[in-house]
Amino acid sequence: MSKVVGEQVVLITGATSGIGYEAAIAIAAERHDGLGRRVVIVGRSPEKTARCLAEIRAASGSDRVDSLLCDFESLASVRALAASFRERYDRLDVLINNAGTVYDRRKLTPEGYEATFAVNHLGYFLLTHLLLDLVRRSAPARIVNVSSIGHASGTMNFDDLHFERGYQVMRAYHRSKLGNVLFTRELARRLQGTGVTVTCLHPGVVATGIWDHAPKWALPLLWLPRRLFFISAKDGGARLVHAGTDPALDGVTGVYLTDFQVKPPGGLGQDDAIGARLWALSEQMTGLGPAT
Ligand SMILES: NC(=O)c1ccc[n+]([C@@H]2O[C@H](COP(=O)([O-])OP(=O)(O)OC[C@H]3O[C@@H](n4cnc5c(N)ncnc54)[C@H](OP(=O)(O)O)[C@@H]3O)[C@@H](O)[C@H]2O)c1
Repeated sequence: MSKVVGEQVVLITGATSGIGYEAAIAIAAERHDGLGRRVVIVGRSPEKTARCLAEIRAASGSDRVDSLLCDFESLASVRALAASFRERYDRLDVLINNAGTVYDRRKLTPEGYEATFAVNHLGYFLLTHLLLDLVRRSAPARIVNVSSIGHASGTMNFDDLHFERGYQVMRAYHRSKLGNVLFTRELARRLQGTGVTVTCLHPGVVATGIWDHAPKWALPLLWLPRRLFFISAKDGGARLVHAGTDPALDGVTGVYLTDFQVKPPGGLGQDDAIGARLWALSEQMTGLGPAT
């Protein structure tokens, strides 16, 4: 395939379901100067990704939607994704780190890391670093990290980051989502003055596939609230579109968004000393920094 040159590019991970899928349709459907932006979706299953690519093209009316593959459980796969992206595109205007999951039972990645932390935090961290020069070159540009309101309940126990001493699904999820908030703040600080903004958001409580990974005993309890109170994937996706492309957020960086508004993060979400420690550890864990 020939290289795409000079087009604005939006990369969305986790775009084969839920809010990422809906955001991909909405952004591909936006028109700017008659051209629109090229949207690159990332999925993990070749078949599902091919199907979603066709659906997103049809629903958006844009054929400038491409796809790449990555399993964020594997850092090697994240590196392969970044390499494929760099082969194909010469800029990256908006990076939306959205692929996320929960694990009912503790699972370790090929690198030996607790999988929730690896997919939801290390995946964002490594992909962003591997593409950061392209983002900087494309400034004004944006990085959006999809977090969760659950970050406010998150702990960052550096002595047991991988839950060797007992695993609980929501504790693992909240830790990873706290990681998204702390990463956003530290990256925004480091990118001050570059024209690259970094934000994170809670997309709402959204009726998507992520809830299917809840413990089996919780599924019947979720059935009614899901139908009554959860917002749709389309409405959740609109929060990603806002963070990624709304001109009202031009220049706004280092913030946490919920319901289209800037709000202070909760819990440890403003503890930048923990953020700095997490950053250094994440560099080591992803092979970006010196090992201890
Ligand atoms: N739904 C909510 O209420 C809610 C609330 C707060 C935050 N969030 C956040 O929103 C983001 C999107 O979630 P969603 O609600 O849209 O859930 P979803 O429908 O389950 O979509 C998750 C997406 O991430 C992908 N993904 C999961 N694990 C992956 C892996 N190992 N490698 C590559 N891709 C992977 C999924 O791929 P497949 O299609 O192959 O499964 C899918 O495209 C997540 O970061 C989540 O934490 C959601």
